[in-house]
Amino acid sequence: MEYKKIIDFIKTLYGNQEFTPLAVPVFVGNEKKYLNECIDTTFVSSVGKFVDRFEEDMARYTGAKKAVVCVSGTNALHMSLMLVGVKRDDEVLTQALTFIATCNALSYIGAYPVFIDVDRSTMGLSPDAMKEWLQKNAEVRKNIRINELDKSHDFSFQEDGFACYNKHTGRRIKACVPMHSFGHPVRIEEIAALCKEWHIELVEDAAESIGSTYKGKHTGTFGKIGTISFNGNKTITTGGGGMLLINDEELGAYAKHITTQAKIPHRWEFRHDHIGYNYRMPNINAALGCAQLENLDKYIVSKRKVATEYEAFFKNIPDIEFFVDSPDTYSNYWLNAVILKDKEAQIEFLTQTNDNGVMTRPIWELMNRLPMFEKCENDGLTNTIWFADRVVNIPSSVRL
Ligand SMILES: Cc1ncc(COP(=O)(O)O)c(C=O)c1O
Repeated sequence: MEYKKIIDFIKTLYGNQEFTPLAVPVFVGNEKKYLNECIDTTFVSSVGKFVDRFEEDMARYTGAKKAVVCVSGTNALHMSLMLVGVKRDDEVLTQALTFIATCNALSYIGAYPVFIDVDRSTMGLSPDAMKEWLQKNAEVRKNIRINELDKSHDFSFQEDGFACYNKHTGRRIKACVPMHSFGHPVRIEEIAALCKEWHIELVEDAAESIGSTYKGKHTGTFGKIGTISFNGNKTITTGGGGMLLINDEELGAYAKHITTQAKIPHRWEFRHDHIGYNYRMPNINAALGCAQLENLDKYIVSKRKVATEYEAFFKNIPDIEFFVDSPDTYSNYWLNAVILKDKEAQIEFLTQTNDNGVMTRPIWELMNRLPMFEKCENDGLTNTIWFADRVVNIPSSVRL
């Protein structure tokens, strides 16, 4: 393997630094100006103009009816699953090939993941595998819970009277959470159609895919709710933070209410009408987000250019495939990925690059291999395991 050539290429791409990191944030816009404004006005906490502005700017940017900020992408996922009505002992269809936050969020509610395989073309949840699993294992029943619903005690006030059940476990399959791996959109239209057919709520984990679109529509806006992360390693950051993208005004207003302690607006009274959460993003983080968002499109152009250069380079390297986005999609290329020949080649690639000042990482340990989720159902996960043995993420920072 031509490791020296690969390492030299990556180093040159990023200005020949001694150490080339995987993904670092860039602050070249109004970040300091907006942060100073927060300090000068004392609005550093959960109230302030940047919180409102960031939500409005993101709703406009993504085309969501309402955007609600949160303190992390994990919180945003937790809230989304509650808001679509996931309850203890429900099942949620998702990927084993994802970051732990996807499964943690549904576990906070006491729900169980069911792991469905990913596509070779997207690295995200496969609608073919999902269809096959549903046909074998699921059935739609008239939902007996519909009569009990009460908006003040139940988040899921928008249920349609039918529900999907796992024929073998007897559990309700309430939601499906596909994840747009490394910013590459999944075949989301087909997944959305399956969710509709089977009466399953679609919550997109778009943590990694800000700015990525499928047929021109922003990821995270195909189901009732989608979530984004603004963690420091993401395409744009608020330090830490997340967001819910909601395609329903009423649900959006409710999400804001629930994530801000469910306080009934009043000039001085402290009255609350629900168990609420203190998940609100502070103004200083939102200020950072506003400034970062102003440059997002520029950052994505830069990241896509890096990806094009990688693609051209790896075409001439035998036994390594550079992963590209599929037709109909526009990926932000949050993290670039190469696919090695086998597990042995993956380990050798990781060793050589990390030993020589180029930071690279394998894909996350599969969720079904972690002790918390190893007993959860899966469909065999053929492509998932294939990727886990081969994928390595390579440096992907914005280059200006
Ligand atoms: C796929 C995925 N889901 C959820 C999250 C959670 O986001 P956060 O770190 O902001 O809680 C992340 C990233 O960190 C992620 O990559």
